[in-house]
Amino acid sequence: MTTPENTPVAEKPHGFVTKGIHWLSLLLIGYGYLKGLNNVNQLSDPALFWFEVAFAAALGLLFAFRLFWTKKIAGATRLPDHAPRWEHFASRFVHYGLYASVFTIVGTGLAIAWGFAAPYLGRWFINPMIALHEVALTALPVLILAHVAGALWHKFIRRDGVLESMTGKLTM
Ligand code: HEM
Ligand code: HEM
Repeated sequence: MTTPENTPVAEKPHGFVTKGIHWLSLLLIGYGYLKGLNNVNQLSDPALFWFEVAFAAALGLLFAFRLFWTKKIAGATRLPDHAPRWEHFASRFVHYGLYASVFTIVGTGLAIAWGFAAPYLGRWFINPMIALHEVALTALPVLILAHVAGALWHKFIRRDGVLESMTGKLTM
């Protein structure tokens, strides 16, 4: 849809709950990457151990609520129905990939904590969890880059208001 001033606006922008969670999650994930651990021995500091567990649990619950909210209540995408099938596929693939990466980071993080606190689980448990943690930590930024590229595609090529549905009106 195009306004008289030629500014693209989505038919129905995302609501403030979806927007609030979306931009909060960007901050939390940025923080998580800045503060990421360097090795498993750091978990012997109890304060750091419990902070990591609380942070992972909070991020996991936020994303679980967000998935419920967008799938069941507010709607997951503002991509126009008439957009090409490949755009619908790419958008769904990247959105689910973002959720899958975050849930894997959180799940393997909690598993690493469990394996550290319960040494009887042994290296055979904790080592694959660390490997999977790192796979998901590598996949997430790749997907975020694809996601941002998609947002710019809609802003500058399609001009269909999909970016503005998450940011509000932009003057560019
Ligand atoms: C219970 C929660 C968590 C635990 C116990 C945990 C544990 C670990 C451990 C042991 C490492 C070092 C891996 C190695 O030895 O190479 C690591 C790396 C890392 N973690 Fe976590 N993690 C948790 C949650 C998270 C969360 C929620 C995030 C962020 C979204 C995160 C981000 C990172 C990053 C960025 C690295 C560095 C990876 C690298 O240098 O290649 N972690 N984590
Ligand atoms: C500068 C960075 C970002 C920009 C410009 C951006 C932009 C957008 C836009 C425009 C939408 C609406 C798409 C639509 O309606 O189809 C959206 C949705 C979405 N974004 Fe982002 N995003 C960014 C960062 C992130 C990050 C860091 C994550 C999570 C790891 C994320 C996860 C999602 C998800 C899952 C959706 C679908 C709606 C939902 O389930 O909440 N985004 N984003």
